[in-house]
Amino acid sequence: MKISVIGLGYLGATHAVAMAKLGHSVIGIDNDPAKAEALNKGEIPFFEPGLSQALSEVISQGKVQFQSSHDENSASADIHFLCVGTPQSPDGSANTSYLYAAIEDLAPHLSQTALVVGKSTVPVGTAQELKNKLQSLVGFEPRIVWNPEFLREGTALEDSLKPDRIVIGYWHKEDSLPLLVAYEKLIKAGSPVVELDVPTAELVKVAANAFLATKVSFINAMAEVAEVVGADAVALSKAIGYDERIGNKFLRSGIGFGGGCLPKDIRGFIARAEELGVGQALSFLKEVDGINERRRQRVIELANKELGSLSGKNITVLGISFKPNSDDLRESPALEIARSLARAGAKVTVTDPKALHGLSDENLKPEPDTYTSLENAELVILATEWDEYKKLDPVQAKSKVANATIIDGRNVLDVSAWQAAGWKVIALGRTIRNG
Ligand code: UGA
Repeated sequence: MKISVIGLGYLGATHAVAMAKLGHSVIGIDNDPAKAEALNKGEIPFFEPGLSQALSEVISQGKVQFQSSHDENSASADIHFLCVGTPQSPDGSANTSYLYAAIEDLAPHLSQTALVVGKSTVPVGTAQELKNKLQSLVGFEPRIVWNPEFLREGTALEDSLKPDRIVIGYWHKEDSLPLLVAYEKLIKAGSPVVELDVPTAELVKVAANAFLATKVSFINAMAEVAEVVGADAVALSKAIGYDERIGNKFLRSGIGFGGGCLPKDIRGFIARAEELGVGQALSFLKEVDGINERRRQRVIELANKELGSLSGKNITVLGISFKPNSDDLRESPALEIARSLARAGAKVTVTDPKALHGLSDENLKPEPDTYTSLENAELVILATEWDEYKKLDPVQAKSKVANATIIDGRNVLDVSAWQAAGWKVIALGRTIRNG
């Protein structure tokens, strides 16, 4: 099939490559010409494991091309995927203006037979408004379905090529048929298709992210309690996770969730529910957000307690991306902690295997080499659980620092090995006896 993918951020770039890998002929469109040009050269503007190689492969097969506007070629696509961002507005709601701009650009090129597929995360009700808008622009009833995306950064390509479900919301069942053809290989390989109405499809995405955020904040709330009573949130998580109804995934306590999705999606969901007059139903999500913020603050308190005062103290933060295998700094709890420490007067060195290039903070000293970053540290904070930090040699690490104290913000270190090497280990949600 011929496919256009509109918007080439994390979602769109990955989706374009995935569609090309499925054998389709793909035209990626982004109104930033530099982005389209870079992608044509095989350059991905962010780090995503395996994506760069897959892009080079599909470029060399002539399966994908990128451009900054629609043309005759993209106008003849069977399917147009809307993959533009819906960032957070200052009032917390989702900003859907890029979607409307994308619809306006597409309208003059849209044929009556082409299918428009919404993939962006939107406030419930947006698809209907977009459809109305598009209809007013083109003068016929456009074919639109809503097909939310559930990919995770770090495993984005794999998630796109092996989705755990394909959710399709439609007004007319026949509109979903071209999409089923486009995804035929995925469906044959076993991905279940969930067909539903459009508002439910829109809700599935934000509900899933709200649930995931709630799970993380739930275990972090337990960590707050555990800290007071001398209990262990990691052991607690394991123990409750054996219950299959609870499950052990997404129950890792630590400095909390970040990224371009979970924080903005729960705030957008709250804002939309308030607009719809059902704000009370989602008021618990404000607490989910609040618990998440408090975990970051807890690290600052622990650092303060440990060092007496933060002013002038050398602190090294291991990891600044919002999660491992990503260079995304959006709403990163790790980066926020580093910034707070610097604001409180600490001399903060940060290191990260992939994300340092995105750092624009003059108050943070970037150091690409992990062991060098530890030199003279009076306190080390493990903030993002990259493999190389999990595998750090505590003996070698100790030889670099001025004071061997580490806060394990992700509960991933082998505490006894670190203690045996002479470290004081402090963790979130756990009371660790040192020395
Ligand atoms: C999230 C969802 O997991 C995807 O399903 C969704 O498609 C995506 O948002 C999106 O809306 O586009 P992502 O933002 O890539 O994916 O990251 P997650 O893997 O969900 O992690 C989010 C944050 O939660 C990270 O900061 C991570 O460190 C934290 N986390 C995760 C925990 O603190 N504890 C856990 O147990 C799990």
